[in-house]
Amino acid sequence: MRLMLSMLIFLTWSAFSWAQEAPEGPDRSATGGATTLEDILARQRGEKVDSSYRAGNTGQGNVEALIGQLGTRGTASDSDLYRALRYGTADVTVSSRSPGAGVLIQDAGMWWLSFRTGPLRTYGSYLLGGTLVALLLFYLIRGKIRIDGEKTGRTVTRFNGFERFGHWLFGGSFLILGATGLIALYGRDFLIPLFGKQGFATIALASKWIHNNIAWAFMLGLVIITVNWVAHNIPNRHDLKWLAVAGGLFSKGLHPPAKKFNAGQKIIFWLCIILGISISLSGLSLLFPFELPMFTKTFVIANATGVPELLGLNLPEQMSPHEEMQYAQIWHVMVAYGFLAIIFAHIYLGSIGMEGAFDAMGTGEVEEQWAREHHSLWLEEVQEAEASGGAASPAE
Ligand code: HEM
Repeated sequence: MRLMLSMLIFLTWSAFSWAQEAPEGPDRSATGGATTLEDILARQRGEKVDSSYRAGNTGQGNVEALIGQLGTRGTASDSDLYRALRYGTADVTVSSRSPGAGVLIQDAGMWWLSFRTGPLRTYGSYLLGGTLVALLLFYLIRGKIRIDGEKTGRTVTRFNGFERFGHWLFGGSFLILGATGLIALYGRDFLIPLFGKQGFATIALASKWIHNNIAWAFMLGLVIITVNWVAHNIPNRHDLKWLAVAGGLFSKGLHPPAKKFNAGQKIIFWLCIILGISISLSGLSLLFPFELPMFTKTFVIANATGVPELLGLNLPEQMSPHEEMQYAQIWHVMVAYGFLAIIFAHIYLGSIGMEGAFDAMGTGEVEEQWAREHHSLWLEEVQEAEASGGAASPAE
């Protein structure tokens, strides 16, 4: 009886004390408190794993471990060392003065890698592919936008040499940057099967060199088109009328009046400026690693507006130098995808999509009837200036 009573008390007490000591979170008793397979799988699934159970377990302060017999690190295990590197407690001394040099393991790198090769590329490809399909459908349904009226055989100067130089510097460099950027993003998948690893390495190296250096021409082009055209892209009352009928793009014979640039072109222009500045800044940050971090500050400002929270976004306000670079890379590519999709539509309308449009950027001279249909108010201004004796100024 006494024996049974003492066993009962012992069992109750041990069950109680076990319940007290049971660690929170997943049961790691099978691994003696160390990382379990489930921890690893959760991390690979991209779930947030609370690493506090091992973050401090780095062998630091364990003097006996340091004076043990197993070599220069004593009995400190590899796992201790790697945990210390991973959680930033290892005393890493590097000769490089780069801010990121002391970071040897960075967990967020895995998130970045899988986002870059996963959703970023998937949705980006949908956007570009979808835009091309939409343009093909537009072409099949609407056909080429023709000059409706009788051609006059007379031409008007639409853009002078400097305006065309600025356009082609900006647009040409953009196309080269787009092509070489896409090689960086998709090249491994499409070019290695075609040229082999050695061949791809040469292409990738050349492509990266071109991408990094053409960037300067793009930025110069951005400045030139801004200076040349900003004044013509201030919105005016005609833009609303133009937008109300979608510029007549979907209906034959409808030509809303417009000055030098119509509302659609103004939208393209401002998108080029905003996306051009954004892609240049993130590009500069990538070109000079760790020297121009921008995302921590941007996220602090963005979080203060409360908008990211409403969207369910958790933007980090503290990050390692490498994370800064990873965000710069992701942003750079996201902007590039949007920019390319817009420019696909622009190139279509500026070339095969609209009769007479390419001449504006080719020779600079457009058919007078084309100008009457697409930029009637601008044509009137040019002709009035000519009639009053002044040279037809493309700046009108
Ligand atoms: C083969 C490629 C391209 C062609 C055929 C082309 C054609 C044209 C044409 C014909 C115009 C003048 C439209 C008019 O007279 O009203 C124009 C304007 C313009 N282009 Fe391009 N372009 C090309 C590439 C680009 C690229 C890559 C960019 C920017 C990254 C760009 C940005 C602009 C801008 C901002 C304007 C002034 C606003 C506008 O007309 O929308 N172009 N382009």
